[in-house]
Amino acid sequence: MATQYFKDNKGHPKPIGGPVRRRRVLLCGVLALGLLFFFFVPWELPPSLKDAGLPGISRANVAQLMKTKGKKVEVGEIYGLLHLVTGDHEQEHVLSNALQLDPTVPIELSVYAAGDAVDWAQEQALIDKEYPVIVFSKTYCPYSKRAKELLAAYDIQPPPKIVEVDIRDDGNVIKHLLTRLTKHSTFPNVLLRGHSIGGSDNLQQLHENKTLTKLLEEAGATPRASGPK
Ligand SMILES: *[C@@H]1O[C@H](CO)[C@@H](O)[C@H](O)[C@H]1NC(C)=O
Repeated sequence: MATQYFKDNKGHPKPIGGPVRRRRVLLCGVLALGLLFFFFVPWELPPSLKDAGLPGISRANVAQLMKTKGKKVEVGEIYGLLHLVTGDHEQEHVLSNALQLDPTVPIELSVYAAGDAVDWAQEQALIDKEYPVIVFSKTYCPYSKRAKELLAAYDIQPPPKIVEVDIRDDGNVIKHLLTRLTKHSTFPNVLLRGHSIGGSDNLQQLHENKTLTKLLEEAGATPRASGPK
């Protein structure tokens, strides 16, 4: 087959597929090789460059940068406990079944999940939304009774989640956990979005100085009444 020609800018015939085209093919090859090298071969900047205080552009840093986009939220241990007390009845036995559980030292969230895969950031958001007010109470305790009555007079939506600790088999563990996690050791213990606002007296004061409505609203719990007269 005869070679095909085209005319270059000076009008001279040049064979198609000549040096120009070959150079272009070569360039593409080098570029592809470079990309391959960047993504598939582990590399780091030479230490001298890194020490010079250049912003790190190692693969690890690039990967990290990409990950911070879907940033991981640090979920507090209290949500492990709230996961148990807001869950189904079966979960009541998780803590009492945990062997050698010491509630006075930090506990991994996975212990509270008892083998279930829990997305804790999602769980925290769900608990905050469905149970913005959680009251740890004792059925026979007059202070607990007073706190529950006070909250009832606010007609809160969603209604407070009442956890009667004395009728649970993990009640003793919960008492120690609350002491460590909320710095409040007595009952009742009123939590707004995982933060303790104290017991019956604190609640009464917040009611009297008219800040409770605002606190509830900020927690995403809507009071439909203004509390006891
Ligand atoms: C209302 O009472 C609470 C609980 O004692 C207190 O922490 C808060 O500072 C008081 N707020 C005002 C506005 O007095």
